[in-house]
Amino acid sequence: MKKLAIYPGSFDPITNGHIDILERGCKIFDKVIVAILHNPDKAALFTVEERIAMLEISLNKFKNIEIDTFDGLLVDYAVKKNADAILRGMRAVSDFEYEFQMALMNRRLNRDIQTVFLITGLRWIFTSSSIIKEAARFGGNIDGMAPEVVCKKLKEKFDLTPPST
Ligand code: PNS
Repeated sequence: MKKLAIYPGSFDPITNGHIDILERGCKIFDKVIVAILHNPDKAALFTVEERIAMLEISLNKFKNIEIDTFDGLLVDYAVKKNADAILRGMRAVSDFEYEFQMALMNRRLNRDIQTVFLITGLRWIFTSSSIIKEAARFGGNIDGMAPEVVCKKLKEKFDLTPPST
């Protein structure tokens, strides 16, 4: 039986750390749905449409993935998609508490959906969407931490792109 995982997140924006987890997940699951939480109450830098566009470009080398959005409870979305598992990445111990809490809440809501944690590559343990946004906001160099399209879009967002001559 083919195994399907949901890889949920805000992806605001996608980073190379997310891609590292996806690469690992794609070796375990037959298909992974990268699912962006559509939450109008949560302030995001990029619109869902912008995030989808960046995901499409960044993930075009993956053959066994799909990009989607969801709202409401993650476990309900997972059931709707007939998923076997929720895939989440773990970087440092600091991620543990939040991830543990979320996984146990999801289990309480639906005992049939398992959360599978994969450990990120060492080089990405300090990479997060928030830290990349913060560095980019003040003109810091974030090259190599996120896909090229993301670095470009961040520079545009913060108006740091040198004017064309
Ligand atoms: O990338 P993030 O922001 O850490 O992702 C968090 C996400 C989207 C996985 C989480 O907030 C989520 O699943 N939200 C949907 C509502 C839900 O089911 N919450 C968990 C149990 S209350």
